[in-house]
Amino acid sequence: MSPELIRGLCYIVASIFFVLGLKMLSSPLTARKGNLVSAIGMLIAVVTTLTAMTEVKWVWVLVGVGLGSAIGVSAARLVRMTAMPEMVGLFNGFGGLASLLVGWSEFHWKWAATGEFELFTIIAIFLTILIGGVTFSGSLVAFGKLSGTITGRPVLYKGQNIVKAVILITILVLGIFFCAQKPDQLNAGGTTDAYFLLIGTVVLAFVLGVLSTIPIGGADMPVVICLLNSYSGLAVCAAGFVFGNNVLIVSGSLVGASGIILTNIMCKAMNRSLANVLFSGFGAAASSKGRSYQGQARPVSAEDAYLILEAARNVVFVPGYGMAAAQAQHVVRELGELLDENGAEVKYCIHPVAGRMPGHMNVLLAEANVPYELLVEPQDVNPTMEMVDVAVVIGANDVVNPAARDDKSSPLWGMPIIEVDRARICIVLKRSLNPGFAGVDNPLFFKENTRMLFGDAKASVGSLVSEFKQ
Ligand code: TAP
Repeated sequence: MSPELIRGLCYIVASIFFVLGLKMLSSPLTARKGNLVSAIGMLIAVVTTLTAMTEVKWVWVLVGVGLGSAIGVSAARLVRMTAMPEMVGLFNGFGGLASLLVGWSEFHWKWAATGEFELFTIIAIFLTILIGGVTFSGSLVAFGKLSGTITGRPVLYKGQNIVKAVILITILVLGIFFCAQKPDQLNAGGTTDAYFLLIGTVVLAFVLGVLSTIPIGGADMPVVICLLNSYSGLAVCAAGFVFGNNVLIVSGSLVGASGIILTNIMCKAMNRSLANVLFSGFGAAASSKGRSYQGQARPVSAEDAYLILEAARNVVFVPGYGMAAAQAQHVVRELGELLDENGAEVKYCIHPVAGRMPGHMNVLLAEANVPYELLVEPQDVNPTMEMVDVAVVIGANDVVNPAARDDKSSPLWGMPIIEVDRARICIVLKRSLNPGFAGVDNPLFFKENTRMLFGDAKASVGSLVSEFKQ
């Protein structure tokens, strides 16, 4: 067997590992294994690629591996769970930047030097640079917004879509000239023109990435992160075409496709169509706060909340960002077990955009060993919500805001929610009446069947656990 054929087979094996890993990631039960399987696939792909290189500067490879591993390990260990979304945003951005640099280096060392490139490869280089640049700068803005380094509110200005369209058209025109550069011209010193076009494309791609992300804010941010994730996959896929490397094409397509699927799921969860997300004033709705609600909230003590829970036959927990911030998942599981021992049927209802990243609540509850069978989705609980004795909202706010269902003027209008207000009693655990991520007031706090248990979620649930134990 020729080395070429062996390498081709190794790439197929690596691709199979990626697909299997991705499949396993779709269930919390197999997700850890899926991560490992995908990582093994990546190892096979990297080693195979290194064996294909004739002049490997091993020192540089080792420096890269050492630096990358050090950054990866410390990021995985040090970054707080609640800071994961911005971390993912940053990783997307670096994926885009890596693709951009790959395209650029292929242009610099091969095309500009030899001029022996087919039009198809040149177009692939252009797309790699364009998508990589947009992904990089867009992801940096998303990182800044999620980490609070820059304002999380949408930055809107008049004619923003026209400005973006003009920039995009300019980039495409540059692209046409870039791809039309003739190899002879390059050999005869025409590289400068091509370089001018390339640098123009890079700069405009960065500007487009920034301008596409700054108008988005509030509740639309998860969609952006998923979309940028998809872009980073497309950039890798385009880089694969530059090299004619199958494993890059496969892995890039998988990331691109899964990112788009996740984007679609997020859009549905937030009631925005993909076309609306792509072409309309992103997050414009979130710039208004909607109606303000006032009324008499009914605070409750831990002792009284315990009495309500003690008498309940079925209880639904609805966790949100506050549970993550308070790191209350372990005490929540303990409370769930005590309720179960007390004869109540306990479920955990998870909204797709609860928390700050896709699957945020699932990850936390899995970490606390909450049995997977107890996790349910809003559509499983909402139809029978009237039969639920107590809905316990733990640091969730936007995802249980009835204004999304009842108030057409609300920025959250149309977003599917967990309808805890229809339960017999709803106990809300949070520290104040302040709004959540979207900055929208929540009429749930003033409903007759709502009780507010004010305080840090971990401390409040801890008090309930103590009450049960006494
Ligand atoms: P939010 O609406 O953000 O509400 C969280 C609530 O937790 C806050 O109102 C806060 O109220 C409370 N809280 C914070 N720290 C707490 C603590 N230590 N103890 C008790 N409560 C605490 O959360 P949600 O309902 O999970 O909704 C998620 C929001 O984030 C949605 O708008 C979603 O669009 C957005 N988002 C989601 C994602 C993904 S993919 N999940 C990514 C980015 C953004 P107090 O300050 O009064 O305590």
